Amino acid sequence: MVDLRSVGRGRTLLFGGPFSDREAVDAAIGIRAAGWTADVRPEGGGHLAAWQAHTRPVIVDGRLWVCFPWSEFDRDQARTVVEIDPDGAFGTGGHPTTRMLLAQLVGRIEGGESVLDVGCGSGVLAVAAALLGAASVTAVDISPAAIAATTANAVRNQVGKRVVVSGTPVAELTDRFDVIVANIHAAGLRELAPALLARMAPGGWVGLSGLSPAQVSLVAAAYRPASVIATPVLDDWAALVVVAPAVPGENPPVDGNSH
Ligand SMILES: C[S@@+](CC[C@H](N)C(=O)[O-])C[C@H]1O[C@@H](n2cnc3c(N)ncnc32)[C@H](O)[C@@H]1O
Repeated sequence: MVDLRSVGRGRTLLFGGPFSDREAVDAAIGIRAAGWTADVRPEGGGHLAAWQAHTRPVIVDGRLWVCFPWSEFDRDQARTVVEIDPDGAFGTGGHPTTRMLLAQLVGRIEGGESVLDVGCGSGVLAVAAALLGAASVTAVDISPAAIAATTANAVRNQVGKRVVVSGTPVAELTDRFDVIVANIHAAGLRELAPALLARMAPGGWVGLSGLSPAQVSLVAAAYRPASVIATPVLDDWAALVVVAPAVPGENPPVDGNSH
């Protein structure tokens, strides 16, 4: 049995089956090997309900819908849609550490910015930044699976020309960026602080995530002289947003948007 279902914006889902569990996994692997995206979906009952809950879009501030390519919801009802196939990399959009940085991008990207995504994983932040209007996005990761996933997801979301993906270490980057996002653990963020501060454009902001609330002040101290402008907390996770002085040596602005 093959069933086709349109889910808006030119996206049609193809359902095949019934398969045994083994056949379904093999079919998905074969489809992926041919360059398509595929997942195994339960046929019905509680397993299907759980799968549908898991693949429901993550909606960020009513402006950004993040979902899997195989999510069964009508994309035409959404404003900006980011379709992410993690394919082994981190980042479906649902994790609190990711959601807090997505919210910062939604709230702060005005259009035309240069963005650096450090530890891009699946590319969810990089692709979201591009779809929200960033002029260019540099996405880096130490994991080859993340580089492959981000490259594929940028193409899938038709921003492949504006998202440059690589394994370049931050210390070897030479550009300066209006926006930097990094969702890595506290120790990694502290270690990267000098290199990331050197990559901030005057007046630019950096969103750091993957912290416990108790780690925020320690990480903030590593990013001085950049000033803290927001410290959101979600489900026991914390993030930190700092801004660079508009003129080197001057105090940066504090915008009062603390969440
Ligand atoms: C928690 S995931 C975040 C993925 C995605 N940005 C998100 O927010 O959902 C962290 C990613 O950072 C990468 N990573 C860790 N340390 C790194 C470093 N020093 N430079 C670049 N990437 C790093 C990991 O390989 C992993 O893909």
